[in-house]
Amino acid sequence: MTQPPLDPALFDLQDRLWVLHCAKGPAPREAVRALTDLLAKELRPWELDMTTEWAGIPEGLRLEAARVIGGRPEDITVSTSTSAGLTAVAQGFPFRKGDEVLAPLGEFPSNAWPWKALETRGVQFREVPLWEGQRSGTEALDSLPPPAGADFEGRILDAISPRTRLVTVSWVRFQDGLKLDLDRIGQACRERGVAFVVDGIQGAGTHLPSLQWVDAFACGGQKGCLGPQGHGFLWTTPAFRQQLVPQGSWLSVEGGADLARTVTDFRRGWLSDGRRLECGSLSLVGSLALREGLRVLNGAGVSAVSAHVDRLQASLLERLAGKSYSGEAVRLEALRASGRLGPLMCLHSGRGESLGATLQEAHRRGIFASAREGYLRVALHGWHTEADVDRLARWLSGTDS
Ligand SMILES: Cc1ncc(COP(=O)(O)O)c(C=O)c1O
Repeated sequence: MTQPPLDPALFDLQDRLWVLHCAKGPAPREAVRALTDLLAKELRPWELDMTTEWAGIPEGLRLEAARVIGGRPEDITVSTSTSAGLTAVAQGFPFRKGDEVLAPLGEFPSNAWPWKALETRGVQFREVPLWEGQRSGTEALDSLPPPAGADFEGRILDAISPRTRLVTVSWVRFQDGLKLDLDRIGQACRERGVAFVVDGIQGAGTHLPSLQWVDAFACGGQKGCLGPQGHGFLWTTPAFRQQLVPQGSWLSVEGGADLARTVTDFRRGWLSDGRRLECGSLSLVGSLALREGLRVLNGAGVSAVSAHVDRLQASLLERLAGKSYSGEAVRLEALRASGRLGPLMCLHSGRGESLGATLQEAHRRGIFASAREGYLRVALHGWHTEADVDRLARWLSGTDS
């Protein structure tokens, strides 16, 4: 049996089978140890070090966040969530009245409301179905699932109009698990002078994005990146960042952190790196926890994690063939084989089966999964094993308990 790239002993999951990092990833023990040490210093603030902690922790976080997505640390902005990153882009981008933002139908609301908030400024948010029979909103349960072989990206590109200033997508979709081709959408957007923004939270930590044609990639740290809720990062290209109005923070200007200078001297330029979009003093506690989660991940290597997840998905889908989810196993295997799956395997039932009862049965077996919009979600990561796949297969096929 092959060893998983992340040693399960790094975590404290005991006998629980946690296939729920699409909602919340577990923190490694090491992160909690580092946090405990840092929190003790809150009792003795003279022990807090300006270089290694006050400045060093966010710096370390930018470094690890850059590694986990294959970017440069100077392009990372530390943020509190995916939404905070997307909002910094939405509010800072030089939209004009009449502009339009284009997104796939059925985005997670974090990638809808920051754009819908611009309606008061005359900017329209327009959704595009990605396949025939896709539904969302109050009709979500009547949707067909994404079929293999559909031209998802083509539908977005065909929908670009002269008013489209920005296209935004989830790299991996929260409900059906589909992974979009960022190169294809991004290159076509660049050719048309349209900005391309990505909500990356459901793929980051298990998969490596291609950022070549992306302008901004926003990510909360609480899922595949193994951090706590309330911390995340935004990656932007220097050219795109330059177009955005800064948040206006005192630490986003040249020499802002140099308290030996007269800080009331406002004749300073805005920083050009990712700190330009940050928002004042950062949470050291949260930054440290996310940095440690990412450090563990980077130690294993995201490519090793994605290869491992892919192997486990193939194995699980093979074992579901001929069982209760056999139709879905065939559809998902075709998506997996064509590189269309992120870490989530989402078995579609629509209005069919009661997913509540299925999840209750999972709970009884110590398995923590989730359901959204008529899909049963099983999210694999680098610490899962073949034995876990075995347990999942037995649950999903309704055999022994
Ligand atoms: C695609 C996607 N984006 C964003 C989020 C979370 O957004 P935030 O980090 O702003 O809470 C989720 C789930 O919680 C999600 O599935």
